[in-house]
Amino acid sequence: MEVVDILDKYLSQVQGEIKTALSTVEPDELKEASLHLFNAGGKMIRPALAILSAEAVGGSAEHALKAAAAVELIHTFSLIHDDIMDQDEKRRGQPSVHKIWGEAMAILAGDTLFSKAYETVLWTETDGMDSRLVVGALQTVADSCVNICEGQALDMGFADRLAVSEEEYLHMIYKKTAALIAAATRSGAILGGGSEEQVEALAEYGRLIGLAFQIQDDYLDVTSDEDNLGKPVGSDIAEGKRTLLVVHTLEKAKPQDRDELIRILREKSDQSVARAIEIFQEYGSIDYAHDIALGNVEKAKKLLLILEDTPAREALMKLADFVLERSH
Ligand code: IPE
Ligand code: IPE
Ligand code: MG
Ligand code: MG
Ligand code: MG
Repeated sequence: MEVVDILDKYLSQVQGEIKTALSTVEPDELKEASLHLFNAGGKMIRPALAILSAEAVGGSAEHALKAAAAVELIHTFSLIHDDIMDQDEKRRGQPSVHKIWGEAMAILAGDTLFSKAYETVLWTETDGMDSRLVVGALQTVADSCVNICEGQALDMGFADRLAVSEEEYLHMIYKKTAALIAAATRSGAILGGGSEEQVEALAEYGRLIGLAFQIQDDYLDVTSDEDNLGKPVGSDIAEGKRTLLVVHTLEKAKPQDRDELIRILREKSDQSVARAIEIFQEYGSIDYAHDIALGNVEKAKKLLLILEDTPAREALMKLADFVLERSH
């Protein structure tokens, strides 16, 4: 099965769960703001990971459907708030939620999705699931939300600092991005009735592809184009972000190039995006980031070998590769 088919297979069911969860929101303005990014269409990688993880441990997709929807609700909440924090005016090729409805309504839309996510996990119980498993999934999702907030706070703080070590960078992206991806695989594996060993292996797989996912996101910010990205190229540079490209370049560069890059990042404008990319290239930082991401994906795939060889495991292997094959 191709990756697009894997993602498509569950798309409409998960979207149905999300639309149902949001159907009663009022007033209309808040409802529309809450639905905006779902209508714009995301890749839905996290719900696919949750469902496949349930299947990969011998459970059914049905068991993980609501947790899958919940994880996508949390992801979308984080995107709405992230665009306010990063002052990004485009998302998924559309104006960001705060650009259309203003920051106050965007904050509320994010909060609505956040709360609906918990409600949605709890609805799993009405599907006849063992309540201990539901509690486990709920704990997993809650823990990942705290991580997202911590990671986002670290990310913002780093932008005002000079140097950030690679270790600090990896800790930050674990929290802001990989923790939720690991929560998708962990909660799926829990609800699928996986053994402790299976749950831990899938959570670690999620963490590793999650790290690769954010590194690829940093990489695409300078190698892709606006049509593919759905937002302008080089927005991380314009925001002074400490991406892996920056971290590696600042560590390797001659003082003169280092100073120039720092000056560009402090400028916080899109004037010198092309020059910053030239400096990254000079120090091999773009290839370096890609290699680190690739190493994580390879390690992640090896972890899946403790699972039975099933179509779900095969699909998880493909999704790991897809993290680096994607162009947006
Ligand atoms: C974007 O995530 C935000 C990051 C964590 C890097 P995705 O690339 O999964 O975004 P959508 O959901 O497909 O738009
Ligand atoms: C993604 O960080 C993390 C979260 C959304 C929590 P980014 O700021 O790099 O994500 P994009 O590039 O705006 O999608
Ligand atoms: Mg952002
Ligand atoms: Mg951000
Ligand atoms: Mg980014």
